[in-house]
Amino acid sequence: MKVTKAVIPAAGLGTRVLPASKAIPKEMLPIVDKPAIQYIVEEAVNSGITDILIITNRNKGAIEDHFDYAPELEERLAAGGEGKRDILESVRACARMANITFIRQKETKGLGHAVLQAKSFAGGEPIAVLYGDDVIIGEDPAIGQLCRAYEKYGKGVVGIKEVTREAITKYCSLKVDRMEDRVFSVTDMVEKPSPDRIMSLYSILGRCVLPPEIFGILEHTAPGAGNEIQLTDAMRELAVSDGMVGVDYTGTRYDMGNKLGILQATCEVALNHPEVGEGFRKYLKELAATL
Ligand code: UTP
Repeated sequence: MKVTKAVIPAAGLGTRVLPASKAIPKEMLPIVDKPAIQYIVEEAVNSGITDILIITNRNKGAIEDHFDYAPELEERLAAGGEGKRDILESVRACARMANITFIRQKETKGLGHAVLQAKSFAGGEPIAVLYGDDVIIGEDPAIGQLCRAYEKYGKGVVGIKEVTREAITKYCSLKVDRMEDRVFSVTDMVEKPSPDRIMSLYSILGRCVLPPEIFGILEHTAPGAGNEIQLTDAMRELAVSDGMVGVDYTGTRYDMGNKLGILQATCEVALNHPEVGEGFRKYLKELAATL
């Protein structure tokens, strides 16, 4: 079945990037000239997703405003003539990218709980999940690679990457068997494993495509690590009962939930930016020479 719906959980508290995220949602922090969440929406749209649900909370109204029309601003830009046309188009495009709707997660009870808010939106169809603080940049959009695997294998798909032994204890560890190039069967997983429980250095990073059964599982998933309803705990049940597929997606992932990730994304996107790329490269070389 073709995957056309996606959910972007963006209701976390963003404590790792405080105080920047105190009044501005961390998903709205810019990477050069677009907020992080716009890159994620564009990735979904470029993968054939038509309907997107963004999970927000009561402090994240700026995300809704960003994907809405801005009549006053647009009028002013339109009056600016040819010189402002490109800016006007880029501002209008935000409101036209896809059918974007919003639901508030009224209590911050974890990623699993956030995804559960998408149950009626999914309406019995599979759903792509793009974590709101993971920006992935690459030629072939990451979630599209996962959707193709879902359509091929008919099983839940997780986006995976190999990480270091130190890092895996902060993420989750998967039991994997290679099926084809960059594609694995996943039959078990453990969240934040102690060193003796590490199954492999493959972890789920930022993306998955889930079958409708996930919602029934989430409804009975008890709070786990951090007293939150963990999506990994629900996916583990799915992996053990039906098996899942892991796709080692191509593209570079930036963790916009931590300060270093934000800086890396900013530098790399800036270097390739048509307007500021050249000037930034020159600046960076001069700066590097002084380090
Ligand atoms: P994180 O755990 O990375 O986000 O959740 P966080 O809670 O904002 O981070 P810190 O640790 O406080 O800095 C991964 C994704 O799940 C969303 C987050 O917005 C992020 O995109 N999330 C998390 C929710 O939507 N709701 C939650 O209750 C928890």
